[in-house]
Amino acid sequence: MSKRYYIETMGCQMNEYDSDHLSRILEDSGYLRASAPEQADFVLLNTCSVRAKAEQKALSRLGRLASLKRKNSRLLLAVAGCVAQQRGVELLERFPGLDLVLGPREIGSFRGILGKAEKGGMRVAAVDVHGTPGSFLGGFEYFQHRVKAYITIMEGCNNFCSYCIVPYVRGRETSRLPQELLDEARSLALQGVKEITLLGQNVNSYVNEKMRFPGLLQAMNEIKELHRIRFTTSHPKDLSPELIQCFAHLEKLCSHIHLPFQAGSNRVLKAMKRGYTREKYMDLIGELRNARPGIAVTSDVMVGFPGETDEDFEMTLDLIRRVEFDNLFSFKYSDREGTPAAKMEDKIPEPQKLARLDRLQELQRKITLKKNRELIGKNLEILVEGRSKKGQSLAGRTANNKVVNFINDKRYINQLINVTIKRASFNSLWGELTSLRC
Ligand code: 5AD
Ligand code: SF4
Repeated sequence: MSKRYYIETMGCQMNEYDSDHLSRILEDSGYLRASAPEQADFVLLNTCSVRAKAEQKALSRLGRLASLKRKNSRLLLAVAGCVAQQRGVELLERFPGLDLVLGPREIGSFRGILGKAEKGGMRVAAVDVHGTPGSFLGGFEYFQHRVKAYITIMEGCNNFCSYCIVPYVRGRETSRLPQELLDEARSLALQGVKEITLLGQNVNSYVNEKMRFPGLLQAMNEIKELHRIRFTTSHPKDLSPELIQCFAHLEKLCSHIHLPFQAGSNRVLKAMKRGYTREKYMDLIGELRNARPGIAVTSDVMVGFPGETDEDFEMTLDLIRRVEFDNLFSFKYSDREGTPAAKMEDKIPEPQKLARLDRLQELQRKITLKKNRELIGKNLEILVEGRSKKGQSLAGRTANNKVVNFINDKRYINQLINVTIKRASFNSLWGELTSLRC
């Protein structure tokens, strides 16, 4: 009987991309996908540690998966991703049922480590931060039969924002070769992928002797079979005029940018080591909106950074009112061990952080609703991805990255169609079919 594997992915899209590579290696090694961990011979949890809550969630899930070992002693249990990198061998001590700890830059050695683990008796913590990440392995044929795909173009981060653990767990910035990325994108497009999202902790820092990020976007735009290009995440300090101009000239580049601002007070931005001011950030948004009128802007923001005063927080609310983001991902600051912010004084008490977060989210809710309502009556193209969350209708995304639900007719799955927006709520839009494109 064939061996079976089960992978559970937490965290960001880069982890999803890594999980795809791990799946491919497992399938090459003779494993078939299982639909539940109880039915698998190899279980892997791909984790995120960007915030304390994500790490706690990963550890508690790992504890539950480790208990499967009591029923099936032959099961191999692995943990990958940022918690694996950060905690390393400590996880083997804490979870006796765990066989393998695999950092994000050890995916390149996974095939060999798997072979050894299968022979039995060996518990391994592979956490070399200078190793080979999954994205450098190639082998993208795996992603066929999808309409949307990710391509990780660079790994790691050199910015060391004072609150962030990413540079410690994902290592320094390393960019992949442009030719390899273009081949990967072309091959995906020929297999039917219509939309590609280019991924990296900081895609604007993509660099190669042949091209920088705007050049790469330009070359991607020329792939005939490809319809849509997105990218994430960008850092405001590296958003060059050339990149902004891409929004004016590249028709396949979707009208959406995710540009984390983190805080609206210059004092806090400085303590965070972000490298820009609130004024500079707002100028960038103005330039983006000039280059591509109607572009959707989303962002990440934190409340309760050490020392954040009421005035600082008011500056954050003020920036939100001025920019009017389409959507915001908002978080309470949490200490990450080993970062400079974790050692700062003047920590904000939890109830105060929560009260600030509530106020901020209430404000953003109104803005998002207003922005969504402005789309009523508009005719928009959507890429239909499948059933909606509740399953009664189909759902797709506009170029602006807004979710649109419409009638349930499976003929439209994986198609680019045009819909007229009829209703809008905070979470989604409701559309009616206007035309089918291809
Ligand atoms: N506490 C809270 N939020 C954090 N983020 C990163 N580090 C922390 C932290 N220590 C948030 C930032 C980032 C997003 C991915 O997670 O807003 O953009
Ligand atoms: Fe973390 Fe800053 Fe790098 Fe983003 S840019 S991954 S917030 S260190």
